[in-house]
Amino acid sequence: MRIEFGEYVIRDWVSEDARSIVRYANNRKVAMWLRDRFPAPYTAADANAFLSVVLRQDPRTVFAIATEREAIGGVGLEFGSDIHRFTAELGYWLGEPFWGRGIATDGVRLFTAWAFEHLEVHRIFAGVLDGNAASARVLEKAGFAREGRLRAGAFKNGRVFDQLLYAQVKEGIV
Ligand SMILES: CC(C)(COP(=O)(O)OP(=O)(O)OC[C@H]1O[C@@H](n2cnc3c(N)ncnc32)[C@H](O)[C@@H]1OP(=O)(O)O)[C@@H](O)C(=O)NCCC(=O)NCCS
Repeated sequence: MRIEFGEYVIRDWVSEDARSIVRYANNRKVAMWLRDRFPAPYTAADANAFLSVVLRQDPRTVFAIATEREAIGGVGLEFGSDIHRFTAELGYWLGEPFWGRGIATDGVRLFTAWAFEHLEVHRIFAGVLDGNAASARVLEKAGFAREGRLRAGAFKNGRVFDQLLYAQVKEGIV
């Protein structure tokens, strides 16, 4: 897949992205808002392990945000199972040098629209750790509705966090 927007693109990961993943993912200011499986520090071995999983995905649901030169972040969906098999959790991150230019907002908006069109998904949601104002703002600007606060919904870096639940559903599905 390929979604171009201005100087940026959302595209399939390729094995050559390992070096740029480490360049931008190895940053505690990025990892602090993500799952523990996005490690800090983030090493070349971590990047290769990540790529070996996503390059085998079929269908692919996890993609790079990139310039023409290099990957600068990621965006993707993780599907649930059983009765949640048409529900997917959205995740995304961007290298710090690229923050504040609207890239995540545009990327999330375009990626969500693409996913509703090309993947069998009824509901896309995100759980933002309370305090991550930039991410909450991205979701609001990208058309997600805030559905609630999951009290003590996450534990990260030794701290209990509420999670803010944001979601968007496929048009006409309910
Ligand atoms: C969240 C993240 C992807 C945002 O990327 P970005 O490209 O800088 O986002 P955008 O520029 O599209 O929009 C950011 C918005 O948040 C606002 N913002 C940024 N920091 C903020 C803060 N500390 N408090 C309030 N608002 C803030 C910006 O002003 C902007 O809103 P505006 O356009 O109304 O001014 C990036 O900060 C990141 O990778 N963070 C770490 C990983 C992460 O949190 N992932 C999401 C997990 S749910």
